[in-house]
Order: sequence, then structure tokens, then C-alpha cells
Amino acid sequence: MIDQYGRTIEYLRISVTDRCNLRCVYCMPEEGIEQLPHEQILTFDEIERICRISTELGISKIKLTGGEPLVRKGLPDLLGKIKRISGIEQVTLTTNGILLKNQLDELMRQGLDAVNISIDTLDETCYHTVTRCGELNQALEGLQAALEYPNLRVKLNCVPMNQSEEEYIQMAEYAKEHPVEVRFIEMMPIGMGKACQGKSRDELLELLEKALGNAEPYEKHLGNGPAEYVSFSGFQGRIGFISAVSHKFCDSCNRIRLTAEGYLKLCLQYESGIDLRKLLRSGATDEELKEAMRQAIWKKPACHNFSDERRDEEVGQKKEHRAMYGIGG
Ligand code: GTP
Ligand code: 5AD
Ligand code: SF4
Repeated sequence: MIDQYGRTIEYLRISVTDRCNLRCVYCMPEEGIEQLPHEQILTFDEIERICRISTELGISKIKLTGGEPLVRKGLPDLLGKIKRISGIEQVTLTTNGILLKNQLDELMRQGLDAVNISIDTLDETCYHTVTRCGELNQALEGLQAALEYPNLRVKLNCVPMNQSEEEYIQMAEYAKEHPVEVRFIEMMPIGMGKACQGKSRDELLELLEKALGNAEPYEKHLGNGPAEYVSFSGFQGRIGFISAVSHKFCDSCNRIRLTAEGYLKLCLQYESGIDLRKLLRSGATDEELKEAMRQAIWKKPACHNFSDERRDEEVGQKKEHRAMYGIGG
């Protein structure tokens, strides 16, 4: 459907759990989080129902995220159920890769279309520092397993912070040796990310061009997200930038989000949205759910505003209190 600003909304990101097996410094506190009780989390049937109703509003692409989606038991079954809904064209996954190797065959049988794997550095010690508990080897085994499926589109996500120049170049060069898009994501001031210093797209591109030669803009779309891509000569995959802070992409935003507790979020940064779990569990009909979703989506905010608090009051929006693991990125 089209929102009040004329944007076509066709992409639904679903956080299936707030739990995670890592503790990335910009996302989760070292001691972990107070987890949502099971009964507060949408069941697979509830998620499937929302997906089915959302196709009637024009949603055709689904992203499963977390926390870490693969820690939720039976995730491949959910993926298959969603994939079989008429009107759903693609179901993709964003994961830290740690549990991917063991679940990938089943995910593929259920129809996984693409996978994004979050690995912030290819240096083992630094990976352990960023994730506080992760073993780089396990994430790389997941990545290797994904690359063995020639029809599976694979991307790598890296949030640049205080990694070394060599680490960024090594990360980018992964796309030279493999048919993988390597994306650098600007740190967003959400949850623990507020206290972290990220690196901007322009800084990083300059650093990469010095080491790897000129980058050519790559105009084609690769996926459903906001990344902008460039090509380096001799590379199999492209380098992407998700620059929510320095180059806003809200004008072309095509997405909404469903949190693990069933809250339909309209913009990453603001609280506005609707409690679908309440409606689901109070006996709403499909038609009532659809109408509630339609009205909420229509009111999707025009844009986020990471830098100027005064603008929030002007546009009448409240900043999101949830952390990234509770939203799904
Ligand atoms: P594909 O390109 O189809 O793979 O999708 P994607 O880039 O949306 O997937 P992914 O889950 O890997 O998200 C990558 C990063 O983009 C995450 O850090 C998200 O938080 C960020 N992102 C996605 N959509 C938005 C958005 O609407 N606003 C902001 N600020 N960030 C977003
Ligand atoms: N800013 C930018 N990206 C973030 N991610 C998690 N928290 C933040 C943040 N504050 C990234 C993860 C993953 C993706 C889904 O979101 O590293 O790649
Ligand atoms: Fe887990 Fe992703 Fe958060 Fe890291 S960024 S702690 S992998 S949810």
C-alpha cells in the first residue's frame, strides 16, 4: 500500500526474538538482557497470520531478524510457512551466522531466498572483543556453508567503529574473492549504539579507494533494503553502504517492522505504531486486523531524525525506547 507521503510499503521486517547468543558492544549489555517471557512473544501461527493479512496490503518481501533469529526453535518451519503464503515473493534472513551451518540445509529446503550475515571484523581477537563471546570460526563456517549454495544471495554486514584500516580493507576484499556484497552500516544512535562512535560512509569510502582504487557507482538494486552499492575493479561482489546518519534514505523507505511482542513499528527511530498482539489476542477478525494495519501504515512518519531532538516535538513523534535487539535492526 501507499502511505501518506506516497511511498510504496512492500517490505516487512519481523523480529522473531529479542534473544541473542552474542553481546555486540553496540547492541547488548555484557550481562545480557531481561528476556521477554514466552507468552509475550508472538507464536508462529500469529506471525503467519499477520504475514498473510499483510499481503493484502501489498507486502511481498519478508525479512526475519532478531535478536538472533536462529536461536528461536523451529525458525526454518516458520520461514517455510511464510514462504508458502500466496503473495509472498521473498523471505530473507539476517543472522550473526553462529548457528547457520547446522540450520542452513533446512532453511534452504523451506525456501530461503537470501541471507545477510553480520561479521564486524575478520580478525579473530577483534571479533571476540566486539561480540564479547563469539567465535569467529563459527560465523565463518556459516558464511562458507551459505556460499556453497550457488542460488543463495549472501551479504556481509559490518558496523564500522574502531576497527583498524587493515580490517576494513580485509573485509572489503572478501568481496574480491567471493560473490558476496560487503556492506558497511553507519552506527545508529539507538539503544547502546548511542554511546558508540561509528565511522561515516564518506570516511570509509575514502579509505577504501586509497587502498583499492576508484569505486564506480552501481545503480542496480540488490535486495530490498536501503544500501547504496559501488564496484571495485576485479571484485566479484559489490561494496555497500547503509548510511542512515549521513545520507538519509527516508524518502524511499519501503518498510515497516514487527517486534517480537507483536508491535507494528512504522519507523526505526520512533515509537509510533500499533499493538497487533493485543488485537490478535482479543479476537479481532482478519478484516479488523487489516484495517488497523492500513490506518497505521498510512501514518508512517516522514523521516527519522537522529540529530535534532527539537524536530521530534514539531512532528509530534516520541523517540523509540526499545533497543536494537528488540527491533531487529
Ligand atoms: P537487503 O538489502 O534486502 O538484504 O535488506 P536490508 O539491508 O534491509 O537487511 P539487513 O537486515 O541486513 O539490514 C541492514 C541494516 O540496515 C540494519 O542495520 C538495519 O537496521 C538497517 N536498516 C534497514 N532498514 C532501515 C531503515 O528503514 N532505517 C534505518 N535507519 N536503517 C535501516
Ligand atoms: N547501528 C547500526 N547497525 C546496528 N546493528 C545493530 N545495532 C546497530 C546500530 N546501533 C546491525 C547489526 C546487524 C544489523 C541487523 O543491524 O550489526 O548487522
Ligand atoms: Fe546479537 Fe545482532 Fe545484537 Fe550482535 S547486533 S548482540 S548479533 S542482536
